[in-house]
Amino acid sequence: MRIGILGSGLMGSKLGTLLSRAGHEVVFSYARSQEKLKKLARDAGGKSRAGTPAEAAKETDLLLLAVHWNRFDDVLKQAGDLSGKVLITCSLPMNDKNTELVVAHTSSGAEELAKMVPEARVVCAFNTIPSEVFFGVFEARKKSPRPSLVYCGDDARAKEVAASLIRDVGFDPVDAGPLRIARYTEPFGLLIGQLAYEGDGGPELAYQFERFGRAHSLD
Ligand SMILES: NC(=O)c1ccc[n+]([C@@H]2O[C@H](COP(=O)([O-])OP(=O)(O)OC[C@H]3O[C@@H](n4cnc5c(N)ncnc54)[C@H](OP(=O)(O)O)[C@@H]3O)[C@@H](O)[C@H]2O)c1
Repeated sequence: MRIGILGSGLMGSKLGTLLSRAGHEVVFSYARSQEKLKKLARDAGGKSRAGTPAEAAKETDLLLLAVHWNRFDDVLKQAGDLSGKVLITCSLPMNDKNTELVVAHTSSGAEELAKMVPEARVVCAFNTIPSEVFFGVFEARKKSPRPSLVYCGDDARAKEVAASLIRDVGFDPVDAGPLRIARYTEPFGLLIGQLAYEGDGGPELAYQFERFGRAHSLD
């Protein structure tokens, strides 16, 4: 699949690199230096390349939005027409100091994004995992069980595509439901960040859901 990265920082560069290693054709875009994008593309190998957000949007089928909330307007304006595109957002709607969600409870960053680009098919994914763990998860992808990764969205086909990319990176995709569930997954992303960056074990943190059925009950 042809994948455009809108925001090639911690999240975009790592996910783009791993998706490239998984066999996808990746266009890295939106960084302050074109040299950085070119190096990322070179290091990712395969058919990956550097481009502008407009090229990333035009030449690919799916986009990953990985920028700070305060860059949404700029990067979307640069990307241009996103009609019919699957748009996966891993972005959290944080204030400028990255201390608080600026959208919560009655909406989410993902829902606000869907209002900004109603022509795109928005899926919210990868926002509950610290970037530091992606390479470790990818390396361990043949082991079982895999770590979980929640995602949500309103477009069934877009969600299928997102789930296959989540699998490619090494996670077990957990469908959390419609896009409005991002109201829960976004604060959950902050919890994971708290454990990753303020906890004792370091930031290479992933999570795994386990269901306990009747066999485990006491009655
Ligand atoms: N990091 C995590 O572990 C994590 C986890 C969950 C969710 N998230 C969310 O994911 C999103 C991305 O996070 P991140 O940590 O990847 O952020 P980041 O490292 O700061 O990456 C943002 C990207 O945007 C680019 N950018 C910023 N201002 C720009 C400008 N004026 N012109 C062109 N490019 C510009 C940066 O360019 P440069 O490369 O030149 O800096 C960088 O490539 C955020 O919404 C964050 O809340 C992050």
